[in-house]
Amino acid sequence: MSSIFDQLVVSSLPLVPRALVKKFASRYVAGDTLEAALNTIRQLQSEGAMATLDVLGESVTHKDQTVATRNEYIRAINAIGTAGLPANISIKPTAVGLAIDSSLALDNCKQICEEARKYDMFVRLDMEDTPFTEATLKLVLDLNREYPKTGVVIQAYLRRSMTDIDRLIAVKMNVRLCKGIYIEPRTLAYKDRQVVIENYAALAEKLLAGGCYVGLATHDEACVQKSLAIIARLGLKTSQYEFQMLLGVDPLLRQILLAAGHRLRVYVPYGKDWYAYSTRRLKENPSIARHVLRNILGLGPATS
Ligand code: FDA
Repeated sequence: MSSIFDQLVVSSLPLVPRALVKKFASRYVAGDTLEAALNTIRQLQSEGAMATLDVLGESVTHKDQTVATRNEYIRAINAIGTAGLPANISIKPTAVGLAIDSSLALDNCKQICEEARKYDMFVRLDMEDTPFTEATLKLVLDLNREYPKTGVVIQAYLRRSMTDIDRLIAVKMNVRLCKGIYIEPRTLAYKDRQVVIENYAALAEKLLAGGCYVGLATHDEACVQKSLAIIARLGLKTSQYEFQMLLGVDPLLRQILLAAGHRLRVYVPYGKDWYAYSTRRLKENPSIARHVLRNILGLGPATS
């Protein structure tokens, strides 16, 4: 039934009142405050999972906003470090200034890494859309020379990724591997789901065989299965990789992987700038967005 309806739902999201989007999107976001995020991390810890904390906000165009984000990360690092929680941090490069000036982003990242170093904490740069791919790789390679406990994200849908990882393998960087979430042209990105899965597996194999610690970030059973086969074939220990999942997505798969003895980290976003992140998640999962629209239209809960 639903692909046309789903498209309608997705294109209607900008018309949906924010309060309603927030209600349905709340499963993907820990809350507005650091305290809410720390509670979520404690909850995940009690399940045996680790976390990576993301201060929401992206595509920032004013220097002041980048400074506020940097300071919030520093506050978060201190809170995690002091409490001894099993968590590290993930940063969107444009939230710390990459869209304004790469030296501003580097300076903000260095200040964050300096604080993280006090707690021996790892810092990851998320990967955004393709205008920022090369600048993000350059930023992380610069940062990694001074702060070895840093890493980045590689997107399996990008045609360039197989070549990009050579630079990361050369320094044995810690890499999160995901499919990629932004809308990119076919000239730059594979569009066929099966091809993206095959590329995910090929990248995972090359990174792991090359000695990188890999965060296998996926909720797709096909990617999980192929990753497990590669881990078995290479004879890796559980200390050489981890699985990663988003808060609010497929908690059963999370439990299955933890019960099988794998390390697993959950991406925990928090903050007031929840809208862009949440609508991306809703677009990814039209069945949730459908509930939002049915609610707006007064149609009551969906039957399937
Ligand atoms: P796929 O999209 O095929 O989803 C597999 C199944 O998971 C679906 O069938 C559905 O059941 C479930 N699912 C997926 N998304 C869901 C949702 N929103 N709600 C409910 N169920 C859902 N991307 C990027 O471009 N840059 C980045 O830095 C990151 N960082 C990142 C960190 C972590 C920890 C994760 C897990 C993911 C990212 N991503 C990302 C997002 C990633 O690129 C990708 O878009 C999503 O993980 C969805 O891809 P899957 O591999 O899960 O497959």
